[in-house]
Amino acid sequence: MGLLDSRRAVVTGGGSGIGRATCRRMTEEGARVAVVDVNGDAAEQVAKEIDGLAYEVDVTDYDALRAAVDDATAKLDGLSTVFNNAGASNLSQVHDWPVEEWDRIVHLNLGGVFHGIKATAPHLMAGGGSIVNTASISGTRPRRPRRASWRSPRMPRTSTRRPSGRTRCRRG
Ligand SMILES: NC(=O)c1ccc[n+]([C@@H]2O[C@H](COP(=O)([O-])OP(=O)(O)OC[C@H]3O[C@@H](n4cnc5c(N)ncnc54)[C@H](O)[C@@H]3O)[C@@H](O)[C@H]2O)c1
Repeated sequence: MGLLDSRRAVVTGGGSGIGRATCRRMTEEGARVAVVDVNGDAAEQVAKEIDGLAYEVDVTDYDALRAAVDDATAKLDGLSTVFNNAGASNLSQVHDWPVEEWDRIVHLNLGGVFHGIKATAPHLMAGGGSIVNTASISGTRPRRPRRASWRSPRMPRTSTRRPSGRTRCRRG
């Protein structure tokens, strides 16, 4: 018997790294998983590995994410977990970032989490479930002062994680 038997999950950024490893582990523990990634080939590959569903979606596009979540919920016959993991950054100093890159990263790392919560909450509240967001220890405890650009977009994300991370969506 697995820890996640009968759970049904959506994992954003599931095509690579932490997201891919989480998709695999969740499946090993008995969950059925929908892999969401802006890289459609990567999402397909992981979905094939875990016998899951694949969605090529940019999490900064709320309507597209909502449509994928609704479709996955119908095909999986419910939703009990969302892992808002899609994100990116770079390690150059903050004053070297083009303004457009800052806007893109903040929209992705913060907006993507908000979109994930908003798109899944109605389904999670219908049957109970969990919201998990990837943040970074750098958001609360910076270790390298030069890396302001790495941690700055994560500070609000860490704040978002706290209340939502504790949230268990209950029936009704
Ligand atoms: N690896 C680390 O040391 C580290 C440290 C702190 C935080 N994080 C965070 O953990 C998360 C996963 O990191 P990782 O190391 O596995 O990175 P990764 O680059 O291996 O995986 C990120 C995945 O997100 C996907 N993605 C990127 N933009 C997207 C978008 N707009 N819509 C949908 N999918 C998108 C990518 O295609 C990729 O598959 C990220 O949010 C990252 O910021 C990672």
